[in-house]
Amino acid sequence: MANEALLIKHTGSGKQVEYPILSASMGADTVDIRALHKDFGCFTFDPGFIATASCKSKITYIDGDNGTLLYRGYPIEQLAQHCDFIEVAYLLMNGELPDATQLRNFNEEILDRATIHESLRKFFDGFHYDAHPMAMSISVVGSLSAFYHSDLDIRDPVSRRVCAARLLGKMPTIAAASFRHSVGRPFVYPRIDLGYCENFLNMMFSRSSQTYIDQNHYIDPEFVKALNLLFILHADHEQNASTSTVRLVGSTGANPYACISAGIAALWGPAHGGANEAVLTMLSEIGNVDNVPKYIARAKDSNDPFRLMGFGHRVYKHFDPRATILRSMCHDILKKTRSNDPLFELALAIEEIALKDDYFIEKKLYPNVDFYSGIIYKALGIPVDMFTVMFAIARTAGWVAHWLEMMGDASSPIGRPRQLYLGPEQRDCVAIKDR
Ligand code: SDX
Repeated sequence: MANEALLIKHTGSGKQVEYPILSASMGADTVDIRALHKDFGCFTFDPGFIATASCKSKITYIDGDNGTLLYRGYPIEQLAQHCDFIEVAYLLMNGELPDATQLRNFNEEILDRATIHESLRKFFDGFHYDAHPMAMSISVVGSLSAFYHSDLDIRDPVSRRVCAARLLGKMPTIAAASFRHSVGRPFVYPRIDLGYCENFLNMMFSRSSQTYIDQNHYIDPEFVKALNLLFILHADHEQNASTSTVRLVGSTGANPYACISAGIAALWGPAHGGANEAVLTMLSEIGNVDNVPKYIARAKDSNDPFRLMGFGHRVYKHFDPRATILRSMCHDILKKTRSNDPLFELALAIEEIALKDDYFIEKKLYPNVDFYSGIIYKALGIPVDMFTVMFAIARTAGWVAHWLEMMGDASSPIGRPRQLYLGPEQRDCVAIKDR
């Protein structure tokens, strides 16, 4: 649409102005309306940014109608089949998949930064034993800005990449430490002889104490493969709520560790990344298959706040491609772990009933990534309150990629939306004695 424009006419004054259309390489073009207020004295109104592009980006493309998800142009199905999570993290940050040398160096860089400062490790002692791991993760990741601030120059691209690698390296360590604290087990240090996912599972479930390395670790390779896939599928998803939060906080020039901490906080909500934990809570509440019709009816009742967690998506109005991949993995993992947990059967029953129900069909509500991920995490032995922390580990790859992209674009302005003001008009305040 070179040089095409959108003509906007004010019916009151008759004034009309053309606004240039900015062409996308894929998907929807955008209308550059930055001059709208200057031309017409009004703002656009788009709560939740349903039709608003907040930035330019080359990282991820989603086609919600066709169930397409591309990371730097590569279909998620291909990356899931051919790559590991660290390769995908490199791709998201750099735009290209790494060659063997680049991958080896990147793995080493991430591993070098996996250890946390001993003073930071002591932060966990300040939390009550039953503190939610997401609360601990938000706090400890944000506290990294107390350890890495004075020598930080976010205008320097090399310094920015160090921050990104540090966050990728430390997230699993902080996440596993949150879990170990909550179950009263000693902290386990990352090991230099283990891969990213293997290291995380070892830090989570190793029987070793914090003083020595347990040479006899045993991590099921199938579990490592499943975790690798889960992390790839959750790595990025364009301008979702938590990534937009990271961009907004980063646009002020804030410390990058504070930006990622804000992203973790945004992810926690049950409408977003907290949905995987909410799915398991919902399944426990429903209890058994006999209760499913009652809860489906509640989900369809506009007067009932109950929603079928793990269903629906702002962008996907067809199957979430990640859910398609996870659905088959879910069955494999259940078979392998011979999980006979009734919650799994219940989830599959809900899926079957909802997918045939007119309400869900008409509103295009399909299972999303969170519907199956929680079931798989549970089968892997991950505790429910760690599910969103798992999402945060993976999404750190996307968050740092978007932060690097935004900080590398000198034209990125501070984020500062406007509003439709409906408050009182100007009035005078009288002294309380006269009221
Ligand atoms: C993630 O943005 C991303 O990309 C997010 C994510 C990522 O990778 O970053 O993909 C991860 O957050 C996945 C979504 C996880 N959340 C859930 O599973 C929570 C349950 N789903 C919903 O709350 C809801 O579907 C949203 C929040 C996901 C999407 O909401 P929208 O796009 O704002 O849609 P909406 O709330 O306007 O709903 C449209 C209609 C409404 O009915 P009407 O008002 O038109 O009558 O659909 C109904 C809603 O009531 N609806 C549901 C429903 N989801 C929407 N009804 C019952 N159950 C549901 N789950």
